[in-house]
Amino acid sequence: MYDNLEELEKIVEKCNKCELCKNRTNSVFGTGNINADIMFIGEGPGADEDMEGIPFVGKAGKLMNQAFIGLGINRENVYIANIVKCRPPNNRVPSKQEAMICMDYLRNQVLLIKPKIIVLLGNTALKNIIGENYGITSSRGKWIEKKGIKYMPTFHPAALLRDESKKLDFWKDIELVKKEAEKNNFII
Ligand code: URA
Repeated sequence: MYDNLEELEKIVEKCNKCELCKNRTNSVFGTGNINADIMFIGEGPGADEDMEGIPFVGKAGKLMNQAFIGLGINRENVYIANIVKCRPPNNRVPSKQEAMICMDYLRNQVLLIKPKIIVLLGNTALKNIIGENYGITSSRGKWIEKKGIKYMPTFHPAALLRDESKKLDFWKDIELVKKEAEKNNFII
């Protein structure tokens, strides 16, 4: 357990526990409210995120921002992070081993932030956090409760860029999150 997120971020910046560190411009630790009630977890940085060191700043992030604006969620009020902190080459899915190695950082981020709701964006987040047997198409839109945290799996915003028909489901899932947050007076 680390004392605070700044300490953890400094460790991540220098991390060389897996091959992904070799090609990084910047590690992408996470961004947002360190006391957030709602956390969003994606897969891993893409090219834009690697350049800027901030998650979800590329095309997929812009789409997610539009949903946030449309639904009245303030991006600054939530916390956004990824399964792996360094960009996988050609945006490939992080290997099981890379995800496992990096999970220690994410676990500590969750312990320090203490979110009440975690939105799992896509299969990589879902499988690495909930279990390999889960799939996003059948799990999306349904709450999963684990160790006092409510998880909402939904499509990864990049999947919406490839298939517009997923947009409505994504929107509905985030709307469920918004409603749950409002019901409990969570920061949103
Ligand atoms: N896709 C992700 O999973 N995370 C990002 O930060 C950007 C794109």
